[in-house]
Amino acid sequence: MATESRMEKIVSLCKRRGFVFQSSEIYGGLNGFWDYGPLGAELKRNVRDAWYHDMVTRHDDLGVPAGAPSSFQMVGIESSLIMHPQVWKCSGHFDLFCDKMVDCKACKSRFRFDHVSVAVMQTRETPPVVLAAETYIPDDSGGGLSATKTKKMEQSVFQHNRAKGTSVEGELVTVSLDNYYKRLTDSTPADLKPKCPSCGGELTAPRDFNLMFKTTLGALGGEDDAAFLRPETAQGMFVNFKNVLDSTRLKLPFGIAQVGKSFRNEITPRNFTFRSREFEQMEMEFFCRPDQSRAWYQYWRDRRFSWYTRLGIVSDSLRMRDHASDELSHYSVGTADIEYAFPFLDKGEYGELEGVAHRGDFDLRSHAEGKLVRKDGSLVVETDADGKPKHRGSGKDLQYFDDQTRERFYPHVIEPAAGADRTTLAFLCEAYHEDQQPDEKGEMQERVYLSFHPRLAPVKVAIFPLIKKEGMPEKAAGIYREFKEAGIAAQFDQQAAIGRRYRRQDEIGTPYCITVDGDTMKDDTVTLRDRDSLKQERLPIKEVVEYVRHRVTKW
Ligand code: GAP
Repeated sequence: MATESRMEKIVSLCKRRGFVFQSSEIYGGLNGFWDYGPLGAELKRNVRDAWYHDMVTRHDDLGVPAGAPSSFQMVGIESSLIMHPQVWKCSGHFDLFCDKMVDCKACKSRFRFDHVSVAVMQTRETPPVVLAAETYIPDDSGGGLSATKTKKMEQSVFQHNRAKGTSVEGELVTVSLDNYYKRLTDSTPADLKPKCPSCGGELTAPRDFNLMFKTTLGALGGEDDAAFLRPETAQGMFVNFKNVLDSTRLKLPFGIAQVGKSFRNEITPRNFTFRSREFEQMEMEFFCRPDQSRAWYQYWRDRRFSWYTRLGIVSDSLRMRDHASDELSHYSVGTADIEYAFPFLDKGEYGELEGVAHRGDFDLRSHAEGKLVRKDGSLVVETDADGKPKHRGSGKDLQYFDDQTRERFYPHVIEPAAGADRTTLAFLCEAYHEDQQPDEKGEMQERVYLSFHPRLAPVKVAIFPLIKKEGMPEKAAGIYREFKEAGIAAQFDQQAAIGRRYRRQDEIGTPYCITVDGDTMKDDTVTLRDRDSLKQERLPIKEVVEYVRHRVTKW
């Protein structure tokens, strides 16, 4: 299956079966915003619930979790979407949460600097001579330069040779806009300068664009009342660190977790729900003693990676990647990304699902003392020209007092930060399968099925009467009601041939289908069919709810 068509098929299934719709679609859609339909909302809720369950509710189900340096506690919070503007000054988002972008001076289109590529036709010489350059936005499969433009570039080699009386060969290479800018000199002719990918107009020099959505508080609000929609949930945990400590009996080490919406004004949202402007995060801040932080960092990297594999991402498409030192965030002393090879990416490319970061004491200290910067290897309060803190902190004591050792210190923090939308998309992509199965007449038909882990499947079980008579619909409806009463998401379907009903459920990833047939009416047994193995087994009706419940809650 070609990579491109695989993603197209997933996107089309998402729309057709009600997983994901474009936001405000009847008005032409709104770029970077998505709505989850009936099945998508269930799927995403199951992802969120699985995360909260595994991270908070039953984080230490078996005592000290395997691999953990010690036991620990975990609590959840729910903080507001709009927080005091000073939060973002001390967190670094106000100054540093930027992407570089370029604008077109003619059509006013705006592009994220690192999303623009330049196709360069150059001679095969040392050093090469640039003959033609076309600026373009690569599509999801890395292509995107039109056939006409490619032809024009090929002609430039012919024209060059004719003008110079040479016969050099040309080669077409693609470079990032950043790298192309580095090759430009004062004598570069205007037609070789980067152009607007939309209209060919002149581009501005790259400049910083803050990704936070700004809003105004109060009806009469002015610039002083500007506030921001949170770009991450993490700061809610830091600013409530003392509140949580004072209102609970928590002792280090412990984690504070939260699931909620975040907003980033992405310059070029793309790749379906992967890069959106409104999305949901599942973040946990784990507070521990500084001398134990490296061991906890290792523990959370391993535990978070296994979360994805336990929930069904078993292919080679998942990997853990350590950040190089020049890639680390301003606060981080170590970060590893859990990444997935989404089908919209080129072969060998991966997209981030979750970052596991060792944040040191940056956040608590910044919120207490004022925004920190790294200077000569250590973190110090950033000052302005007069030597005053550039962004003042709260002035509150955000240290931890260890009543055993009588020490007072800032805990270090390990942060596993996952995206609920990206994770949901990865589970969808991983689950998408096609195979060939015989229909009722024995003819091979293509079957599309989503092999979701039973915990994540939006519908856990479907109940069918084989035919619409002889008491079978009533019997099947009774089983359906039992599942509903047990709180297990079930569907009842008596329309169309049984094969078609199976296929409808396979396509939405329902792990189990139960059929009520003639034998059921005699001995109160039913057929239970497994979506992946297609095996059918006969079970007494009184056992089916427990059978399914066990499998859809197992973790
Ligand atoms: N508190 C740290 C933090 O926010 P991040 O890597 O910027 O780290 C964490 O975000 C996760 O949030 C990412 O791994 C990704 O899954 C998700 N995420 C970030 N930006 C996103 C976007 N524009 N659209 C969808 N998900 C996004």
